[in-house]
Amino acid sequence: MRVVRNSAEMQTLAVERRSRGVTVALVPTMGALHEGHLSLVRLAHEHGDEVDVTLFVNPAQFGPGEDLSQYPRTFERDVELCRAAGVSTVFCPDVGQVYAADHSTQVAETRLSTGLCGAHRPGHFDGVVTVVAKLFNIMLPSSAVFGSKDFQQARVIRRMVRDLNFPVRIVLAPIVREPDGLAMSSRNRYLSAREREQALSISRALKGAEAEAADGALDTEALGKSVESAMDAAGLTVQYVVCVDADTLEPVARLERPVLLAVAAFIGKTRLIDNVVLDLAAGADPSQAGLTPVRQG
Ligand code: PAF
Repeated sequence: MRVVRNSAEMQTLAVERRSRGVTVALVPTMGALHEGHLSLVRLAHEHGDEVDVTLFVNPAQFGPGEDLSQYPRTFERDVELCRAAGVSTVFCPDVGQVYAADHSTQVAETRLSTGLCGAHRPGHFDGVVTVVAKLFNIMLPSSAVFGSKDFQQARVIRRMVRDLNFPVRIVLAPIVREPDGLAMSSRNRYLSAREREQALSISRALKGAEAEAADGALDTEALGKSVESAMDAAGLTVQYVVCVDADTLEPVARLERPVLLAVAAFIGKTRLIDNVVLDLAAGADPSQAGLTPVRQG
């Protein structure tokens, strides 16, 4: 496995590899790898001759007062996990390798990125799509795998790829959960034992909503309210609970087509997100909350 830190060197390798007809599936990450990331790597193996992983904590997607400086950095362990997972190349640039000191160009998606997390994290998705566009240009993958815990991120990236004609297939992977239901996240390691217990109210509330929907509760406002009160009761500070069309991310009143029920909440200082796709037509099994396959959209 190669570990590359220099952007020009990485791009040269990528061009040479492509000229030999080798296809690459990319898993872009910010490191602090966990089982959720490793599931993306496993899926990536089905989509390319080689799998590459990027480890880069992208400052452009953090707002003022967010957790950029505390974001977990576990580089040595990440590299070993990649090696064990059969990764071909790990690209781990420092900030200067990705952003020229006087950079003055960025990518912006202006529709799908405005609601949900975008409404509360101004500039976040500009930072995400800009770095993903740069990583695609450096790594030259033919496909890239993203987790559906960050469902809005995956939709925004897919739109960017379509609108800017990137020759990259975006593959969406299911959410990976701890045995007790907590969605895996690098930020879970910020939680104290008590906070982790409180955080379980998120997946339990989503699972409850999925069961209610399967029992015929089609009114999204009522579903959203029951999710919000369950998280409230557990002492979380709810940032949003929304039911939106899983394709357009526009609010919907009734579950008549696949609906994304997405939440963001603070447990102490830690902000977590989670979601479930309610797709009654697909016969969603409520016992599989959060594991329902999501649309490629
Ligand atoms: O999901 C993440 O880890 C990041 O947002 C990504 C896609 C690697 C861009 O920095």
